[in-house]
Amino acid sequence: MMQMMDLETKIAQLLAQAQADQSADWETKYLGKKGLFRQLAAQIREVEDKKLAGEKFNQLKLQLEEILSSKVNDQKADAARVQTSSPDKTVDLTLPADDKEPAGHLHPITQAIEEISDIFARLGFIRVRHPELDLDENVFERLNMAPNHPARDEWETFFVSHPGEASGKLPTWVMTPHTSNGQVHEMKRLGQPPVRMINIGRCYRRQQDATHTQMFHQFEGLLIDKGINITHLKGVLDYFAREFYGVGTKSRIRPFHFQFTEPSFEIDFSCQICGGTGEVDGQKCKFCKSGWHEVGGAGMVHPNVLRAAGIDPEIYTGFAFGWGIERTYTLRPGLNIDDIRNFYNGNLDFLQQF
Ligand code: PHE
Repeated sequence: MMQMMDLETKIAQLLAQAQADQSADWETKYLGKKGLFRQLAAQIREVEDKKLAGEKFNQLKLQLEEILSSKVNDQKADAARVQTSSPDKTVDLTLPADDKEPAGHLHPITQAIEEISDIFARLGFIRVRHPELDLDENVFERLNMAPNHPARDEWETFFVSHPGEASGKLPTWVMTPHTSNGQVHEMKRLGQPPVRMINIGRCYRRQQDATHTQMFHQFEGLLIDKGINITHLKGVLDYFAREFYGVGTKSRIRPFHFQFTEPSFEIDFSCQICGGTGEVDGQKCKFCKSGWHEVGGAGMVHPNVLRAAGIDPEIYTGFAFGWGIERTYTLRPGLNIDDIRNFYNGNLDFLQQF
């Protein structure tokens, strides 16, 4: 009689041999009618516990079949490899490889900034950049807003704390809530008119919803010279409307209030969907609801602002305007961007469309 342990050893040996064996007639050699499996299985006669031995042989058979099917799969893969490199498939090594690195593109707001700078450059406005972290003095005081002036409330400002502020000896710093601080810096930089700048920069306000982000961009125009009046401002706005939104787009100025301009205006552009009529096919225009889109503020530079910069308001006059780039951009027809936060949440599927 053969011991069960001896049988187990023989089974294990056969399995190890079968795994390592690369011979071409593997199937016949192990699983054929006179193959090694059958030869071993015949020895069942010599063991006592035939039921247990039978189970072990069944298991061995399954394992051998598994080895066989993995060998068949390997052969198929090899065959496929041979075919692709077969001589009748020509490879032109002079062609550029088709696995190029994917190329990105400029962010849509950067594209808008470049376009806006170009438009104003054609009118002689020089693009400048002034600080985004600035003294309260440049952001408010020199723009005719004394400390505690209620007009400051309109800009939901982030104040920046720093060591020493508590002692009251160091000035207050703010994250610029508008680009109008650029007016103060530019007048200081040039000393005397003419001034003709376009200041584009980031702004920060405590606000966050579908039409506001805490960080956004504004562009600020400032032109100071002798004999400048409102018609010059209107001409510049009309030019921008036509260049940025297309022929036929008009601008409109409405009375408003800012501390740093007098008179002050809000600027609207005619809607390009309804042509400024507010109606499409007898229905209210869904894009603008009134024929116009409000985009920003403007006005004639307040004499106090000129004086604070050492410019004589009896000799020079000027106009200024400023508005948000994100809003200006999303008003382009066909873009259909209903939540400007999309520009800044890093979603490439959204950004790749521009
Ligand atoms: N700074 C103003 C704002 O943020 C816009 C403005 C700029 C108004 C220049 C008048 C002149 O709303």
